[in-house]
Order: sequence, then C-alpha cells, then structure tokens
Amino acid sequence: MSEFKNVTVIDHPLVQHKLALLRDKNTGTKDFRNLLSELSALMAYEVTRDLPLDEIRIETPIAATTAKMLINCKVAVVPILRAGLGMTDGIMNLIPTAKMGHIGLFRDPETLNPVTYYCKLPADIEDREVIIVDPMLATGGSACEAIRKIKETGCRSVRLMNLVSVPEGIKAVQEAHPDVHIYVAAIDDHLNEHGYIVPGLGDAGDRIFGTM
Ligand code: PRP
Ligand code: URA
Repeated sequence: MSEFKNVTVIDHPLVQHKLALLRDKNTGTKDFRNLLSELSALMAYEVTRDLPLDEIRIETPIAATTAKMLINCKVAVVPILRAGLGMTDGIMNLIPTAKMGHIGLFRDPETLNPVTYYCKLPADIEDREVIIVDPMLATGGSACEAIRKIKETGCRSVRLMNLVSVPEGIKAVQEAHPDVHIYVAAIDDHLNEHGYIVPGLGDAGDRIFGTM
C-alpha cells in the first residue's frame, strides 16, 4: 500500500532496478521498449493478486486432488494509446485469454485536457475484470476519461496500472473514481509547468516509438 488509500506502490527490487534503467535518458528506444514490457509483466503479478480462483478436481500422475484455477474470472486489458501499448505484451503473455480494448487519448498541449480519438472495447467488457494500462499518471485527465468510458459500458470492476505517477494524478483519479485501485511503481515529486512528471522519464510515447 502507500500513504494514499487504494494505491499500491510495487517496490519489488526487480521493478525498482528496471525502472531506474528506464528513467535514464541514455536508454535508447529498443531497450526502453524491452524494459517496459518486462516491468509490465512483473507488475501484473501484483495487479492480479486478488483475482478470484475456482476450485477444480484434477488427477496428478500420483493422486486425485483439488486445485485452483482462474476459470470464471474474465480479464480485459485496455491500453491508453499510444504509450499504453508498450505495456500490453508483458501482461498479455501472462494472461493470454484476456481480451483487449483500446482507448485513444492525447493531451491537448495547451490545456492538458484529454482528447479522445478512438475507443474500441470488448463487447462483454461489463463482465470482465478490467486492467487499464498506461506508463504515466500525470494530471490524471487521461486516466479519468478512460475509466469514465469503461464505466459507461456498465463495467464496475476497473483497476489502473501505471508505472510512474504523481500525487496530483492520484488525487484526480481518487476524487473521480474512488472505487478504482491504482498500482504504480513510483510516486514522483511533482508536475512541471508543461505537465511533465519530475523526475519522471520524459515523454513515454516518444521514448517507446522513437518519435522525439
Ligand atoms: C501520455 C501518457 C498518458 C498521459 C498522461 O500520453 O501516456 O496517457 O500522457 O497524462 P495525464 O495524466 O496528464 O492525462 P500523451 O498524451 O503524451 O499521448 P501519447 O501516448 O499518444 O504520446
Ligand atoms: N506524459 C508523459 O509521457 N510523460 C509525462 O511526464 C507526463 C505525461
């Protein structure tokens, strides 16, 4: 947990080590993408910790026994485009039966308000445990809008997975969506005058796709 209610800071040494490499301005696009993918898989363990299991009967080569599996629990992973795409491989490799939705949002550079340009969600998303993924939680505008769009479908089980956050963004999400649990690897210091996280890692989309 953290000083914030409903926020889990994933402080596992492997997560923190890889995050430090990711933050470094000398880390190039290829390594940045690989690290982000690895971090997403590591974080997925914590984000999915409370998924409900079903008991089943199986036979091992030695004896019949009761075992636990994710049978009735259906997951949807929803990246916020573009940067969220960099976090999907890691989590989809762990939960290959998950469905994926996509929400396209960018921040207006002047107002920092989110502008939606795309939204395609699984038809049965209201029956799924939804995990929204985006490396950055800055003002929180993009996350709040993505959560709103998903709740509009009737879905009531949403969790948010970000790599780097700031208190401003966490508070914005908590105020608008107090039921949504937030998982992060770091809570940084503040936002600068351009809405960038300090110290952060720069523009996540640009670093993933090499568009800087
Ligand atoms: C980044 C990031 C988040 C958003 C966070 O996306 O990936 O979606 O900013 O900022 P916020 O919390 O203030 O809304 P960006 O708008 O740069 O778009 P991109 O991923 O297409 O580059
Ligand atoms: N979006 C980013 O990509 N980086 C930030 O620091 C803030 C928003």
